[in-house]
Amino acid sequence: MLEIAGMCYLLATAAIMNNRKPVTLHRLREMHASGEKIAMLTCYDAAFARILDDAGVDSLLVGDSLGSVLQGRQTTLAVSIGEMAYHTGSVVRGNRSAWVIADMPFGSYQESAEAAMRNAALLMQQGAHMVKLEGGGWTAPIVRFLVDRGVPVCAHLGFTPQSVHALGGYRVQGRDESAARILRRHAEELASAGAGLLVLEMVPAAVARELTNALSIPVIGIGAGQGCSGQVLVLHDMLGITGGEPFKFVRNFMDGSTSIEAAVRRYVADVKAGRFPDDAVHGF
Ligand code: KIV
Repeated sequence: MLEIAGMCYLLATAAIMNNRKPVTLHRLREMHASGEKIAMLTCYDAAFARILDDAGVDSLLVGDSLGSVLQGRQTTLAVSIGEMAYHTGSVVRGNRSAWVIADMPFGSYQESAEAAMRNAALLMQQGAHMVKLEGGGWTAPIVRFLVDRGVPVCAHLGFTPQSVHALGGYRVQGRDESAARILRRHAEELASAGAGLLVLEMVPAAVARELTNALSIPVIGIGAGQGCSGQVLVLHDMLGITGGEPFKFVRNFMDGSTSIEAAVRRYVADVKAGRFPDDAVHGF
């Protein structure tokens, strides 16, 4: 009897803690259309997924940044589809209502649309709502192929970590006019191919703002300024537990917070209110 009462209490507490409706792609589009900023964070396991979801994060990105953050690697290049599937399943089991995006790792979509579909299926079977892949131009037909087969896709332009060696290191992209024009063309092609979201990384704030205003789909910035439709940060960066010098576009939300959940709630509130990022501090 006592045990049943305890169970009921736990279930009721969980419902009170998080009774928001599941975030869907439709809802993200509505937020974009109404000007409500989208708050996204990376997430790699069930424990953090529960905290982030309860704190009101709209979307959890199971990023291949786990190669650096969890595995201590220099780049994301060695992360496998099996590892991404494992972490995606973990996040999905801890999450109740946030929109879950899983990264397609290096080598899982470059070869052919068929290979991309096969690997995207492994992530969707773990409960991902959407997959993300990096690059523009050559990726548009792959995005179209996946979208036509019922797989929502998030594109990723600007600095694309899987191309770190080709790009000559961690550098801001789209700085000059011709690079900004190519970025804009790639973004438009990806949106036309059916991409539902675009992550834009390390791009001058003015370029990102213009691109966001020109596109019909939500643009989620990381180091791309305040003018984007939403923001994403690597969870461990915004909690201040990544070693070394933080990137210019990161704010440590644990500074002045008494718990992880409080820090994440502040992140969500600051993104929604347009207080983070501050282009003068975090922008390029
Ligand atoms: O893998 C990742 O965490 C990402 C973000 C940096 C956007 O792609």
